[in-house]
Amino acid sequence: MTIREILKMGDARLLRIAQPVTTFDTDELHVLISDMFYTMQSVNGAGLAAPQIGIDLQVVIFGSDQINLRYPNAPVVPRTVLLNPVITPLSVEEDSDWEGCLSVPGLRGVVPRFSHIRYTGFDQYGDPIDRTVEGFHARVVQHECDHLIGKLYPMRIRDFGQFGYTEVLFPGLDVNADD
Ligand code: NI
Repeated sequence: MTIREILKMGDARLLRIAQPVTTFDTDELHVLISDMFYTMQSVNGAGLAAPQIGIDLQVVIFGSDQINLRYPNAPVVPRTVLLNPVITPLSVEEDSDWEGCLSVPGLRGVVPRFSHIRYTGFDQYGDPIDRTVEGFHARVVQHECDHLIGKLYPMRIRDFGQFGYTEVLFPGLDVNADD
């Protein structure tokens, strides 16, 4: 497994519309996904999208089956590999909460997201995924899938009074990551 370089905001590769995966269960795909988990875990990320490591494919991973050190108060989200995702909001209701991003290190912002969503797609073997989720799980999915359409969370911020440096906003936060 290899830790891949995570692209930072400003890199044009983060702004592309990612291509769908057309062939599942290939060695190349399994290597990509294991590298993505290794990369995400090395920085205690809550999720990672393939475009963040320069791969132009509709692949996101998220979750960990254990408490995330960057979001210690967040509910556990199951470890998930999601390809070619489609998100359907189940109501117009939104929640606003703090987000960070491995491509936007050192910063956090309050982002509105749909509270309840259904998401569908496939795992790396081509088996279908179909889940209805809410809250933090729904937020993580929306954040990661935004990376597949060239959106970084600052593009979703409505109140820039709630955007700033993590170390200033949350001086006591015990995170052993660089953002
Ligand atoms: Ni992100």
